[in-house]
Amino acid sequence: MFRRMSEDTSAIQVCIAGTGSYLPERILTNAELAATVDTSDEWILSRTGIRERRIAAAGEFTSHMATHAARKALEQAGLAAEDVELIIVATITPDTPTPATACYVQQSLGASRAVAFDISAACSGFLYAMKISKRLITSGAFTNALIIGAEKLSAVTNWEDRSTCVLFGDGAGAAVLRIAAPEEGSILATEMGTDGNLTHLLNIPGGGTACPITSENVGQHLGTLTMMGKEVFKHAVNRMKEAAEKVIERSGLQPEDIACVIPHQANLRIIDAIADRLAVPNERVFVNLDKYGNTSAAAVAIAFDEANRSGAFKRGDHIVLVVFGAGLTWAAAAIRW
Ligand code: UT7
Repeated sequence: MFRRMSEDTSAIQVCIAGTGSYLPERILTNAELAATVDTSDEWILSRTGIRERRIAAAGEFTSHMATHAARKALEQAGLAAEDVELIIVATITPDTPTPATACYVQQSLGASRAVAFDISAACSGFLYAMKISKRLITSGAFTNALIIGAEKLSAVTNWEDRSTCVLFGDGAGAAVLRIAAPEEGSILATEMGTDGNLTHLLNIPGGGTACPITSENVGQHLGTLTMMGKEVFKHAVNRMKEAAEKVIERSGLQPEDIACVIPHQANLRIIDAIADRLAVPNERVFVNLDKYGNTSAAAVAIAFDEANRSGAFKRGDHIVLVVFGAGLTWAAAAIRW
């Protein structure tokens, strides 16, 4: 019988040695969107909390943004690119269907020793990558890993659909994991889950083998994101709350011990509902979706880096990252910084 793996019992502890992020220059405001689709700054701000988002340039690919974010994370970690052993890129907007975006990143970083591959877990991808790489390090297979969440969602957005085009943006975030010294912080607990019964709630229907884009259907926006927003909202709140509670409990912590919660940046109302249900005060919850919108796998990674660099937590603090996305998928991590 299948037995679910429990939290690591390995003597090896894994820490986050550095974080980085990158946002494209171009800012697209709510007012600009209101000039092209039937929406308003007031609706977008009150229903989502988003004020503006970043849009990558035409020649700026997911791997380019991923590489910029990765360089900053490596610099903070004091790790040379040629010493990186594993690169995982979490994305639903790869440069090409194959090879993996991680291979382009390996090349552009000059990380020639690294094994590199992508994972597809939508907005949950960065924390899936964290759990996978932590396990690969504690198993002894690697001593470090570079994990990246990177998305060019503007390339898979239907700019005529007001129910989705106001939500998404582009960007990348990265973190370096490595074996921790005894006095250093570490990743205490991780959790991830999937419910494949709910694939229909949030997806890109076309462009894969189920529905290739052909000359007949090319104008139908089948290669863009569709979402049943209200349903997704409900599941997001419940699943993120449960996942966060699990990692807090498994770390032997109480909600009041958490200095900073870094949630997926999709909707301020979702974030507020989670803070409320976890009984964590709003001022301990990191929010930057007003500036960037929902950048899927990149969102929590960018927020993690901004929280880190802005001093939202300090050495020895306990932090919780929690995410939710298409699949449906969800994940959480508790870290002693
Ligand atoms: O990252 C993956 C996870 N994704 C999420 O977590 C997203 C979860 N869902 C949400 O964040 C919210 O459901 C949305 C922000 C997507 C939508 O908010 P809502 O409060 O659930 O609105 P709704 O979809 O129920 O729409 C309410 C009304 C509708 O009009 P009627 O039928 O009441 O007349 C929509 O047509 O708002 C209308 N509407 C808009 N109006 C102006 C929908 N989009 C817009 C818009 N501007 N952009």
